[in-house]
Amino acid sequence: MPHAALRPSSLAADIDRAAAELTPQLIAWRRDLHAHPELGNREFRTAQVVADHLRSLGMDEVRTEVAHTGVVALLKGGKPGPVVALRADMDALPVAEQVDVPFASKVRTEYNGEQVGVMHACGHDTHTAILMTVASVLAGLRARLCGTVKFIFQPAEEGPPEGERGGAELMIAEGALANPEVDAIFGLHVTSLLPSQVIGVRGGPLMASADQFRIQVRGRQTHGSAPWRGVDPIVTAAQVVMGLQTIVSRQIDVTHEPAVVTIGAIKGGVRDNIIPDEVQMIGTIRTFDEPMREQIHERVRATAEGIAKSARADCEVCIKRGYDVTVNDTQLTALMRPTLERVAGPGRLPPMPKVTGSEDFSCFQQQVPGMFFFVGVTPPDKDAGTAEPNHSPRFYVDEAALPLGVRALAHLTCDYLEAPAQVRRLE
Ligand code: NI
Repeated sequence: MPHAALRPSSLAADIDRAAAELTPQLIAWRRDLHAHPELGNREFRTAQVVADHLRSLGMDEVRTEVAHTGVVALLKGGKPGPVVALRADMDALPVAEQVDVPFASKVRTEYNGEQVGVMHACGHDTHTAILMTVASVLAGLRARLCGTVKFIFQPAEEGPPEGERGGAELMIAEGALANPEVDAIFGLHVTSLLPSQVIGVRGGPLMASADQFRIQVRGRQTHGSAPWRGVDPIVTAAQVVMGLQTIVSRQIDVTHEPAVVTIGAIKGGVRDNIIPDEVQMIGTIRTFDEPMREQIHERVRATAEGIAKSARADCEVCIKRGYDVTVNDTQLTALMRPTLERVAGPGRLPPMPKVTGSEDFSCFQQQVPGMFFFVGVTPPDKDAGTAEPNHSPRFYVDEAALPLGVRALAHLTCDYLEAPAQVRRLE
C-alpha cells in the first residue's frame, strides 16, 4: 500500500541548529561516560549524570531506579498529540580497553568472581550521550511539540549479572511503557559495520534471537588404550558437533531466513590415555523467525540425542531462551524511512542486511510498534568491512558520527508527532 509521505516537521531547521550548537556538549558527555563505564545493573554514576541533566531541563517527570538503575523521563509538548518513546542503553562490558585515546577506560571491577576491565565496547556511552542531547534539543522546542516524548535510559542491555533480573524486560515490568502509554518507540545502535555518516534500517526482522544451549554427553570412563571397554564421550561429542552443523545446512529452509548454530566451548578429559566419563559443550542459536527458532531447538535436541544413543552414550540438552528477534514494525519503518533518508542525506541510507547480533529492544517492540536503526561509526579512512567490531577491546567510534544520531532521533520524533493521525495508524 502506498504511503502518504511524511512531511518534515515544522521544527526541522530548529532541530538541526540546536543539534549543531550542542555538539561540543554531546562529545564531552560521551567522553565522560566512556571514561567511567559501568556494568549492567550497576550504572549508578551514569544514571545520576542522566537524571541530573534531565531534571536541569525541567522535564515533567523524572523517574529513577526503574529496573535497578534505569531512568524514565517525560517531556510534555505545548500541543496535544501522541506519545513517542526514545530508548538508550547505558551499560558497558567486561572488556579491557585497548584504544589509545585520552579518555580510555582504566576502570576495573569484579564480574562473576573475576577481576575484569570495563569498557564501553558496544558503544552504549554514545547512545546515552546522544539521547541526553536529544533531550536538550526537544526540551528547547517543547512549546511547539505536538505530543509527549518519553525518554527511556535502560540498564543491563548486555544482560544482568547472574541471579538478577534486568534490562528492557524488567523496565517494561516496572511500567516504563505505561502512564502514559506509548504509540511508537525508536532506538539506535552505533556500529562498526557501517561508515560514519551512514544509517542502516530495514523493516521486519533486523537482529536475531539469541538462545544459549548446553549439551552434556555422558559415556563411561576407561583406559585410552582400550576404548571398547567404555563409552567414549569425546568421539561422540565430535559427532554431535558435526551433526549440529547439518541443522542449518540440511534441515531448515534457508531460503526463508538464515540461522546460525555455533558451539563455543567443549570441555572434557584430563590426559592423553584416559577416556573421560563426560564432555560438556555450550553454544548459541541465532534465528530471525519464531517458528524456525522452535524448529531448530527441536532439531538440536533430536540430533544430539540421536547421535549419543547410536554411540551408547547419554545426552542431556538444555536450551535457555535469550532475547527474541528484533522485528521492526513494517508500517512504521516504511513511514519513517523518508525521515532517515532526509536526515542522512543522498546515498547515506543503503540497504541494510540482517545482523546476527541480538538486542533487548525486541522486548519493547513486542509491546508497541518500534523501529531500531544503526548509525555507522567507522571513520572515513577505515574500511567498515574490516574495522574492529563492537565488543572488541579495540572498538573505535568516530565521534563526528554522533550528531547524526541526535538529528535522526529528534527528526523521527517530531515528524511522527506532527503526522496526521490517519497516516500514523495506516494499516
Ligand atoms: Ni549494544
